[in-house]
Amino acid sequence: MPVLVAKDLKKEFLHPSRCEILKGVSLTVNPGETVAIMGPSGVGKSTLLHILGTLDAPSSGSLEIAGKNALGDQGPYLRNQHIGFVFQNYNLLDEYSVLENVLMPSRIGRRGAREEDAKQLLTDVGLEGHFHHLAKQLSGGEKQRAAIARALCNHPDLILADEPSGNLDDTNSAKIHNILIQAAKKLRKGLIVVTHNHALAKQCDFIYTLHEGILEKGS
Ligand SMILES: Nc1ncnc2c1ncn2[C@@H]1O[C@H](COP(=O)(O)OP(=O)(O)O)[C@@H](O)[C@H]1O
Ligand SMILES: [Mg+2]
Repeated sequence: MPVLVAKDLKKEFLHPSRCEILKGVSLTVNPGETVAIMGPSGVGKSTLLHILGTLDAPSSGSLEIAGKNALGDQGPYLRNQHIGFVFQNYNLLDEYSVLENVLMPSRIGRRGAREEDAKQLLTDVGLEGHFHHLAKQLSGGEKQRAAIARALCNHPDLILADEPSGNLDDTNSAKIHNILIQAAKKLRKGLIVVTHNHALAKQCDFIYTLHEGILEKGS
């Protein structure tokens, strides 16, 4: 069964003026499949990713996560059970420790992630010395890596990552790209990653460019 099936998603914003930013996006992601979405700033990549992650509602279209309608009341539940989201601006809880941030989605959903798993993930992303720092004490690049560990800790079936290496140097970018691709390939997770990074896009099974509200094949 696909982890995600989106059909003919449209999104218009009415303020400050009417603008249809998505004009019919359809996408299916199966377990273990990796999808890169590219395109210049402002075309609607984050808007699309938020809709796919049930964080925003489309104006029309349909969305199924793990075979269930994700546009109704079940959206938040399906998100917590199936999706790990890496936000473009991280969205860590500033006053909590890095470790608590990573464990938070699992605790909210009572999914039982273990502290050892969270520490291992933080070590994998190169934050082994930062378990007990408050999130607000991290640099931008460190926050980005903590956000990736958090997205993976809940054992999601689908990872949605919004420019996950946007703030990282080449070495850390490569490390993060590996972690995301390996999570998809070894653990059979779906991955949709918004990126400007061609090296990452080339490692994905499918590359699309969001252009005038439509996903076009290729970069
Ligand atoms: N809530 C909103 N209301 C009105 N316009 C919005 C809203 N959210 C995003 N936009 C606009 O939609 C466009 C696409 O934004 P975004 O999805 O963040 O683009 P990208 O991630 O590709 O850079 C931008 O012009 C942005 O200003
Ligand atoms: Mg964006």
